[in-house]
Amino acid sequence: MEGQSAAIARAWSPREFSAAATEWQRLLTAHLEQVMSGSTRVLNWAEPDQTAAAADEWLNRPLADGPGGVAGGMRSLLQQMLSAGQNLHHPHYIGHQVPAASPLAGLLDAAAAVTNQVMAIYEMGPWATAVERALVGRLCGLAGWQPATSSGVLTHGGSLANLTALLTARNVVLKDSWKDGVPAGTALVANADVHYCITRAAGILGLGAAAVCRVPPDARRRMDVQRLDELLTELRRQNRPIVAVSACAGATPTGAIDDLVAVSDVCRRHDVWMHVDAAHGGSLLFSRRWRSRLAGIEQADSIVWDAHKMLFVPALCTAVLYRRRELRFETFQQDAPYLFDPAAPGMADVDVGMRTVECTKRATGFGLWGLWALFGAELFEQLVDRMLQLTQGFWDLLHGEADFETLHEPDCNILAFRHLPAAVRLLPLSEQNRFQRELRSTLIREGHFYIVQTTLDGMVALRTTIINPLTTEQDLRELLTAVRDVGRRVWNL
Ligand SMILES: Cc1ncc(COP(=O)(O)O)c(C=O)c1O
Repeated sequence: MEGQSAAIARAWSPREFSAAATEWQRLLTAHLEQVMSGSTRVLNWAEPDQTAAAADEWLNRPLADGPGGVAGGMRSLLQQMLSAGQNLHHPHYIGHQVPAASPLAGLLDAAAAVTNQVMAIYEMGPWATAVERALVGRLCGLAGWQPATSSGVLTHGGSLANLTALLTARNVVLKDSWKDGVPAGTALVANADVHYCITRAAGILGLGAAAVCRVPPDARRRMDVQRLDELLTELRRQNRPIVAVSACAGATPTGAIDDLVAVSDVCRRHDVWMHVDAAHGGSLLFSRRWRSRLAGIEQADSIVWDAHKMLFVPALCTAVLYRRRELRFETFQQDAPYLFDPAAPGMADVDVGMRTVECTKRATGFGLWGLWALFGAELFEQLVDRMLQLTQGFWDLLHGEADFETLHEPDCNILAFRHLPAAVRLLPLSEQNRFQRELRSTLIREGHFYIVQTTLDGMVALRTTIINPLTTEQDLRELLTAVRDVGRRVWNL
């Protein structure tokens, strides 16, 4: 490359790329084989300051100038990344709602990253836009809507997606709010266990976090529909505007799925926008066996659905879906003549930047589109069925053990439970809580399992999300053995 520095020439050289990619393929394949076999730790715990200092150290000299050149430098960088990351493909990774994603989906994302496919307007990413439109149409279909009369966009994650959907709701319900802001007393009604991003959205949308009115849960931690009805009646009596009712299909702490038929009846009677945060549970719609748990979702005005949860694609890929196509431009009022050409108004529909917070947006759909194209929708059905069956089996297993206690029956693949050996059972709640916390932190630092924790009604619990096709019943039995062992060692039981 004439006139370029050596560094620029090498950083853009197809030959250097090929050599580095060969290293990439070799190291990642070996890493996946090792992690999937369960012979590594799940998490290689290190103190955050130590890892940050180590990352900084790599920036002190150009690796490509070393004896290994670009490919050797790439090898060193990958070895560092792979040795210090979270090993989600380990069968004992049973923690957050982030899956052991299909590595094949990752390959498609990598191709999009290498060629830097982005989108805002159609011509910036024509194939990315086509893929997004196809996926949105299919997901709307699974929600029970006609693709021709519904609409949606893909966006970067459930938090941004909930914000986007609730912004649309706000603008539809309060016509002047984009220009004038929201009237005092505006309310957003939500399931008691909603993800914190809903409260954040209330803050960002100018409602204020205090505008979120939480509906108490029933015995299964679903929104108590009777209490929802009473709350809406009271809000209407006080003349308070209501942006939406935000129901959960897969609440974060327990995976509880609201009775969406009953919620939609109440919303219709009170003429309120029904939003369903199905970031976690939307994927049950792929399963003939489990989709009835989401019956009523077709009545929703908006739905949020994360593919980077139970559809097993790498983060981030989320759909925001609207039942009524005519509302698709209500989210924003923008004036960007350099992007949106008034002489070609028909393009507004395919210029997705008209409907997303992002301007430049990563092409998020390739992984999902690719897995779907390679294996058919049956793959997602099989994954959902497997995760739910394992979780049900885990619940049965815990029930047979006197020193464990579950906090709820699973509606999907999330399960919260406590370890209560006889000596701990006699202690006050604060001590029982401390025991669960210490159990978990020791367990994950030792690296043989990765699980998380939650707090429900003041009770600290261990929490698992079975979101890993490599996890087996045997792994779950081993988890109980490991928890008991840690408990004995940590508290000298
Ligand atoms: C129910 C629910 N909604 C929204 C979110 C936020 O999604 P994201 O992490 O993709 O922003 C989560 C995250 O786990 C969730 O469980």
